[in-house]
Amino acid sequence: MSQSPCPLYRVENGVAVITLSQPPVNPLSHAVRSAIVEGVDRAHTDVAVRAIVIVGAGRYFSAGADMREFGTPAATQEPTLSTVLRILDDTSKPVIAAIEGVAMGGGLELALACHYRVAQAGTQVALPEVKRGILPGAGGTQRLPRLLGVEAALDMIVTGKTVTAAALGAPLFDRVVDGEVLSAALALAQEVADSRPLPRVRDRQVKLPGADAFFQHARRIVQARSPNLPAPLKCVDAVAAALEPFDIGLPKERAMFVELSRSREARALQHGFFAEREAPKIPALPAGTQARDVQAGAVIGAGTMGGGIAMNFANAGIPVWLRETSQEALDRGLGIIRRNYEASAKKGRLTDAQVEQRMALIRPTLQYADIAQADVVIEAVFEDWGVKETVFRTLDEVMKPGAILATNTSTLDVNRIAAFTRRPQDVVGLHFFSPANVMRLLEVVQGAATAPDVIATAMALAKRFSKVGVLSGVCDGFIGNRMLDRYIRQAHFLLEEGALPEQVDRALEKFGMAMGPCRMNDMVGNDIGWAIRKRRYVEYPDQAFARVADPLCEAGRLGQKAGKGWYRYEPGKRDPIPDPEVRALIEAYSAQHGITRRRISDQEIVERTVFALVNEGARLLEEGIAQRASDLDAVFLTGYGFPAFRGGPMHYAESVGLFNVLRTIRGYAARGVGGGAFWTPAPLLERCVSEGRGFADLT
Ligand code: NAI
Repeated sequence: MSQSPCPLYRVENGVAVITLSQPPVNPLSHAVRSAIVEGVDRAHTDVAVRAIVIVGAGRYFSAGADMREFGTPAATQEPTLSTVLRILDDTSKPVIAAIEGVAMGGGLELALACHYRVAQAGTQVALPEVKRGILPGAGGTQRLPRLLGVEAALDMIVTGKTVTAAALGAPLFDRVVDGEVLSAALALAQEVADSRPLPRVRDRQVKLPGADAFFQHARRIVQARSPNLPAPLKCVDAVAAALEPFDIGLPKERAMFVELSRSREARALQHGFFAEREAPKIPALPAGTQARDVQAGAVIGAGTMGGGIAMNFANAGIPVWLRETSQEALDRGLGIIRRNYEASAKKGRLTDAQVEQRMALIRPTLQYADIAQADVVIEAVFEDWGVKETVFRTLDEVMKPGAILATNTSTLDVNRIAAFTRRPQDVVGLHFFSPANVMRLLEVVQGAATAPDVIATAMALAKRFSKVGVLSGVCDGFIGNRMLDRYIRQAHFLLEEGALPEQVDRALEKFGMAMGPCRMNDMVGNDIGWAIRKRRYVEYPDQAFARVADPLCEAGRLGQKAGKGWYRYEPGKRDPIPDPEVRALIEAYSAQHGITRRRISDQEIVERTVFALVNEGARLLEEGIAQRASDLDAVFLTGYGFPAFRGGPMHYAESVGLFNVLRTIRGYAARGVGGGAFWTPAPLLERCVSEGRGFADLT
């Protein structure tokens, strides 16, 4: 645990200052909780102390629970946060929280249990527990409504959103200051040192005329917004309990917290959270591997992907050259980037000055010579071997020694691309997802020769881009698209066997996918999958393919861009409308191929598509393409709209039970549905079941 130079306890002019000290964000670890109790006890026995100030070391108050303690005995070891807050409540000397930087979750609950709060105006305040599938369990749902009013408190608790201290103001914060917060808190401490009775938040009463109707309405809204999640509804119930006396409401909150903590959804959300944190860690890198310095970047190609990638550099404050083949292409690319930034400015996410700063960091050029000094260059040109070869041979000629040469290819072999250069150790895949300035996933593709420090640099860059970097080996489709291919194949097999696009999409959207597979096909363009399938038919003659999308493409139904695909679309609209022509086309396909169509249940749709992801995921683990099962979850959570409350496909499989997954897969193989041979179980899955272990235990 890192130690801070700040003393944890000192006395200044009769005011005890207790410092929360676990840099950088002072989570409420066992050590920090203990230090608070120790400080309060000392202050209590010291007759010279008239008031207590609690402040965070550095420029942060507290970010709440210590994630490193999660699942360890330290998390529940006394003093727990609830104990600490009860002690603060019972203190006979005034306690003032001096808040700046962040006061999140338990950090805010701590501040709420103090008698007075002084905050710096820009402090970020939130109770984000709902995002982890739980609710604030240390009085947050009871105290916040007492200070903020029911409506505003409920909004914060149910959404988990972050608000600034300035926006919240009084009476939540007794003082909101622009300057130094500790001196303001010390000044307030002198003023209130002898003031009695102490203003305890628990003693305030919450009043809400028409409370029953209000909470019924809130429950309806919350349920409509997140039908699959129990936490938001419990948040409403907990806030409703704040209308009762504190000693009745608090245990109610506690009981709901405990119940939610054990829920499948909370476990899945927490798994996803840790999967993202774990992904960038690469144990196989030699100890002490240092990332290379990246001060300037370059992007080749200002098309759909190149423009978004250049924005990542600019957003991170890194100057970036953007190279195109013609002034026209360059102007078009820059125009789109500017419009993107201006749209963000319109929504208030950027100031006009920031738009200009970012645009100034993007340096358009037609010359390779200009980019030679970039530390990393990312190629995003056409997906064509000839073009890629020319680009990489040129980069090899012009780039300075030690520059990282990255490709954004989605389907081509990174090793073959590396072989176009005399420095394959510097070549890596950086697979962004569209729109590259928005999507949080970045697959870092390690070629056979890629140097460890190049991988470390790629991961560091992902972090600077605020993305989740996930390591993948080289294979067709890398992690995400290879798994997705199996999912889409099953979706198409289901169409051949009896389902319709709207049923497949509805079943998977009900399961929680952001978008069903047929809608996704239409959005991306059916021609993309068609081109890849045609290649795969030749490359993998032994594999089972569903070909029902081929006649769809032959009929010009390429998706939204054509106004028709699996659905039809009104001009300029994106709402999918089921189309009898598609039904006829699918039914004709089934008849032609001698497939007797049958009624297919939603359960079968979900199991076949999702278990296809799981089985292929197990193969990726076995082949060493992916480092760990949770990386596969991170990929699907951040790149493919897999429902966060299900924790990703591999976690979902474990929550269903791997035995059940395997049994179902074997059942499909035995019935010969979905391409029969497709359903050969991954040996790793079989091994997990026979040894009674999870994916994480065997990889
Ligand atoms: P795009 O067609 O929108 O853009 C390609 C751009 O590269 C064009 O503006 C073209 O003028 C430019 N270009 C071609 N040769 C060039 C050269 N020698 N020097 C400089 N610029 C050159 O293509 P898109 O969609 O941006 O794809 C680019 C790459 O990203 C491909 O490898 C693709 O597989 C990959 N990718 C695409 C995704 C997508 O959703 N579109 C997702 C992930 C990867």
